[in-house]
Amino acid sequence: MKKIGLFYSFNTKKTSKIAEHIREKFTDVEMDLVNVETVTAEQFLSYDNCICGVPTWFDGELPNYWDEFVPDIEDMDLNGKTIALYGLGDQKGYSENFLDGVGILGDIFESRGARLVGFTSAEGYTFEKSRALRGDKFMGLAIDYENQDSMNPERISKWIEQLLTEFQ
Ligand SMILES: Cc1cc2nc3c(=O)[nH]c(=O)nc-3n(C[C@H](O)[C@H](O)[C@H](O)COP(=O)(O)O)c2cc1C
Repeated sequence: MKKIGLFYSFNTKKTSKIAEHIREKFTDVEMDLVNVETVTAEQFLSYDNCICGVPTWFDGELPNYWDEFVPDIEDMDLNGKTIALYGLGDQKGYSENFLDGVGILGDIFESRGARLVGFTSAEGYTFEKSRALRGDKFMGLAIDYENQDSMNPERISKWIEQLLTEFQ
């Protein structure tokens, strides 16, 4: 498998924790952790396999650091790239916007030609609306620390098993 770039903000607590968890589980795969707050387009494009960590903020919006990188992404040719997203959200507190950031970023990556992988079932979550839904699946891994913390380890392990077959 080609080297993976794992992009997230190093200044987050929960998103960083998940990133470290993911890194530990990918034992035989080369992986760089990259701070999305300082990443350049060139750096991002140097990976064919990417994992992006995106919490949803501001009632259904991307956090500032991802939002600021969007204009760069919109100029990229992502054909040949494989991208998996993991999102953090609060299905109770933000039931109308649960995990929207994953849908926003996923749509942008796809519109530039990327192949999205790592879709997961929305079963076991309770919410009203989510831009991250594609049919009955999330366009990535859904992590909810606020309400389902104890389910995170198993969800992450299962997702990584899946990515091992979906990344090239
Ligand atoms: C002000 C605020 C707005 C939020 N908005 C949303 C939202 O719209 N949708 C959602 O699913 N979660 C929302 N959340 C929950 C966060 O995504 C969740 O707490 C996440 O774990 C934060 O991760 P981070 O600390 O790594 O940034 C919000 C949290 C806060 C404090």
